[in-house]
Amino acid sequence: MAQNVTVVDHPLVQHKLTLMRRKEASTAEFRKLLREIGLFLGYEALRDLPLGKIDIETPVCPMEAPVLAGKKLTFISVLRAGDGLLGPMLDLVPSARVGQIGLARDEETLQPTKYFFKVPLDTASRLNVVLDPMLATGHSAVRAVQEIKDVGANDLRFVCLLAAPEGIKTFTEAHPDVPLVTASIDEKLNEKAYIVPGLGDAGDRLFGTK
Ligand code: URA
Repeated sequence: MAQNVTVVDHPLVQHKLTLMRRKEASTAEFRKLLREIGLFLGYEALRDLPLGKIDIETPVCPMEAPVLAGKKLTFISVLRAGDGLLGPMLDLVPSARVGQIGLARDEETLQPTKYFFKVPLDTASRLNVVLDPMLATGHSAVRAVQEIKDVGANDLRFVCLLAAPEGIKTFTEAHPDVPLVTASIDEKLNEKAYIVPGLGDAGDRLFGTK
């Protein structure tokens, strides 16, 4: 596996992922489980955030206590399923800014085209965590990260729930500098570019649109 890829193999994550994959999981269950797993994914993606020290007083004595001291964070959702990971990430870092990128597949070229892009102006000085539950072919993820780099970002992470081996390869070859965190690397893509065994269409399951 590429050095920059982390699979969060914690038993709680794997258990919750199984519950989510089941086709009979309701929209409410799916949403809740994505939120719960998102907390673990965020925990892992942010585990090397730098710390500084501040002076505080506990009821017992003064102490020098650790606080986050690095760059400010931006969470960037790849619409629309990425929005399902925003809630847990903001639970972890409530002060983070939020960006969104919308990509649609051009039916002629089969490549992603951008229809929406909004990120904070100071993206270049921030740690940018890109969120998209499904890393399938990898084309959208590669394009999303490229768009964010094109406005100056040089510190990025990519967080997904499931990844196909094809998507991991495409992504890590295009952006070897961007650490990727996922809960599972599944078997393959099928002929419709769905992840197998996967969980179906993450956006439809999250929003109940099917
Ligand atoms: N996007 C999804 O929502 N599901 C897949 O299996 C692949 C891409």
